[in-house]
Amino acid sequence: MRRILRFLVISLLLAFIVLQFFQPEKNNGEVSSNHIFNQEQVPENIQNILTTACLDCHSNHTNYWWYNNIAPVSWMVNDHISEGKSELNFSEWAAMDIFEKITILEEICQETERKSMPLKSYRTIHPKAKLSDEQIAELCNWTTKLAEELLANAASE
Ligand code: HEC
Repeated sequence: MRRILRFLVISLLLAFIVLQFFQPEKNNGEVSSNHIFNQEQVPENIQNILTTACLDCHSNHTNYWWYNNIAPVSWMVNDHISEGKSELNFSEWAAMDIFEKITILEEICQETERKSMPLKSYRTIHPKAKLSDEQIAELCNWTTKLAEELLANAASE
């Protein structure tokens, strides 16, 4: 019995070590001119909110923590990033047309108000990403204002 247990523990340990050699590609892109920060007027408080709570999953650049490099956590994090980026990528803001931008701005406000974003697992691990009601209100004021400006600019073109 003891032997079997020892065999099991050692096998599991080996499997864990082997797993570490299979890692997803890192989300380590540079900030380009297509990034929302270089495309729109984004006040500093909003830049801070987006940077601490959203950009890790919704841009081409993630700030990894050491444990993010350990499989299988690395794969879970990678899943969130690919899924998050496919819904909204602030690094590729310039690639969206005005309708997409206005729709997503509204969703940014809605998702944060409903506390669906940032993801709960992320909020638990990154306490700073837990947005206060005040921060959510600031974010929503900004998304509304930017959407109005985009519309006004489009109308005057
Ligand atoms: C830990 C990763 C992660 C973080 C951090 C994060 N998101 Fe997301 N986001 C996702 C994933 C995954 C999806 C797609 C699945 C879903 O909707 O739950 C998503 C979807 C979205 C969508 C599209 C929703 C829809 O249903 O169309 C919006 C808008 C959004 N996020 C905004 C934000 C904002 C704003 C922040 C910061 C306040 C944020 N997210 C932080 C992972 C993240």
